[in-house]
Amino acid sequence: MSNYHIKHLEEYYQVYRKSVSEPENFWEEIAEEHFMWRKKWDKVLSWDFSKPEIKWFEGAKLNITENCIDRHLATRGQKTAIIFEPNDPKEAAEHITYNHLHKRVNQFANVLKSQGVKKGDRVCVYLPMIPELAISVLACARIGAIHSVVFAGFSATALSTRINDSDCKIVITSDGSYRGAKTIDLKGIVDEALESCEGVASVLVVKRIHSDIHMESGRDHWLQPLLDGASTACDPEIMDAEDPLFILYTSGSTGKPKGMVHTTAGYMVYTAYTFKNVFQYKENDVYWCTADIGWITGHSYIVYGPLANGATTVMFEGVPSYPDFGRFWEVVEKHKVTQFYTAPTAIRALAKQGMGFVEKYDLTSLKVLGSVGEPINEGAWHWYNDNIGKKKSPIVDTWWQTETGGIMITPIPFVTPTKPTYATLPFIGIQPTLMDENGKEITGNQVEGRLCIIFPWPSMARTIWGNHQRYKDTYFSAYENKYFTGDGALRDEVGYYRITGRVDDVIIVSGHNLGTATIEDAVNEHPAVAESAIVGFPHDIKGNALYGYVILKDTGESRDQNNLRKEINQIITEHIGPIAKLDKIQFTSGLPKTRSGKIMRRILRKIAHKDTSNLGDTSTLLNPEVLKDIMENVP
Ligand code: WTA
Repeated sequence: MSNYHIKHLEEYYQVYRKSVSEPENFWEEIAEEHFMWRKKWDKVLSWDFSKPEIKWFEGAKLNITENCIDRHLATRGQKTAIIFEPNDPKEAAEHITYNHLHKRVNQFANVLKSQGVKKGDRVCVYLPMIPELAISVLACARIGAIHSVVFAGFSATALSTRINDSDCKIVITSDGSYRGAKTIDLKGIVDEALESCEGVASVLVVKRIHSDIHMESGRDHWLQPLLDGASTACDPEIMDAEDPLFILYTSGSTGKPKGMVHTTAGYMVYTAYTFKNVFQYKENDVYWCTADIGWITGHSYIVYGPLANGATTVMFEGVPSYPDFGRFWEVVEKHKVTQFYTAPTAIRALAKQGMGFVEKYDLTSLKVLGSVGEPINEGAWHWYNDNIGKKKSPIVDTWWQTETGGIMITPIPFVTPTKPTYATLPFIGIQPTLMDENGKEITGNQVEGRLCIIFPWPSMARTIWGNHQRYKDTYFSAYENKYFTGDGALRDEVGYYRITGRVDDVIIVSGHNLGTATIEDAVNEHPAVAESAIVGFPHDIKGNALYGYVILKDTGESRDQNNLRKEINQIITEHIGPIAKLDKIQFTSGLPKTRSGKIMRRILRKIAHKDTSNLGDTSTLLNPEVLKDIMENVP
């Protein structure tokens, strides 16, 4: 029993050792004591990283919504499950109790059924951060449909790619969304996306901004009247442990986005267990994660992890700067938030505004602060620690990924002594290691290498939707029998890990993963562009910003470069979304290439970082003369 909630460092080490030496016994006990099963498993774990094939709790039967909702009703029916804080602070917050959540999820599930959605069907959810987003996700899980949430900042093209990749038959969206002082025409984006999605038979539309939108007859339905007519009872579909729960797309270094597939039982057990410990969640705490449910952080630590613990979780529709930069702190004071989980990019943006906005609010309710999504730099860490946590609330710098499903390396607050910029120690059950470039494991401390995980954990993604080979190639081929994260890390003298950043062609901008290949494809769509290469460069607030080197086609005409820059960014916005816009665009006559024709990104990165004193070995370049041209024309 005590293993479920770690309270001091010695206990951490003790439980950690058990989780590593007897993983099956360890996870079996956690699963047995803290969840509701329709049938227990026949086997706790079977795995083979060479295939790769990973199965947890095989043979078990359950429904995750019974664990997140139904089982709490007897003791927590009147407790608030979700606090919805709208974009506009003048609009009242909504408190949804577990009883209400139960009814609303069931009604929504019945509406999905009435639209013909069945177990195993894929449902695309393209919604802003309103209660219907969490409810639709849970409604899918209730009936065994696989949700695929697409972040509502993605463009029509990005949305249609994702809808088609997983063959979604239905889309749930809204008439629009609020974002600070602006509104966004989400339904218009869906209409455009669906022009190239033949498999979508119906669209359910939530009324949020009451705008006048086009409703395609026979295809589009307002949600509310359907909900009003639906029963509030819906028996949960009984799922196998390894049935897919959801697909969530993440950028890859090459090719189209990868639909990471998460399954039911392991994901539930691990997200619930990490939530409890990483946030030291106690009954009556009010937990707030500022992420969007369109990302993995929102799936695991706004919806599933908190609700599986019967917690109160805040859903915030707005942005940190609206109506002013005090909004986060106003919400903390208003709802007496105890755990606050956000991204370094937000911390840096708020730190830049000074203390005026912070001092206006009472932050004494806070107990634990969290950080996620990208490395947190020293300055941001101290600002957060000193001014928000008042040096009393530990910062949990949580490292993990869409692929890992749950938090992997993190301090446990009040247990693990924190260290600025360090994610510190592996969570219970997680066995990290560092590898060198030649494929050898790096032992000892005070070392740096590529971060891998050598043993399965319950919430790891099981495959890439429709492309198991790519799953194997991306994660299990770089190092034999190890999961490769794509991140670099160092391990200090006591064994604490610090994540140093991506070692592949994924760039994290404001906490969002962007693959350079997809952006280059978009840039190359411009009729004047012959070729392009995108790299990241350091940015005060975003962490990284994007730098594009662009070669124009030689048409003999002269073009206005500023107009071209705008047009290129417009194309990126249409293909991916505004998050992928380039901060700098340099037009160049050529790109440095190896003899085999590969772009030498290492050199382009150095130039973008303004670090040209030592470009390293350029002797293998096919065209060393372009370097001079590039360096002389840095914008
Ligand atoms: C990065 C987000 C440093 C890392 C949960 C990882 C981090 C990628 C941290 C996954 C952290 C996430 N410190 N880097 N605490 N957390 N990252 O899939 O590069 O959106 O591989 O999942 O974010 O991003 P994703």
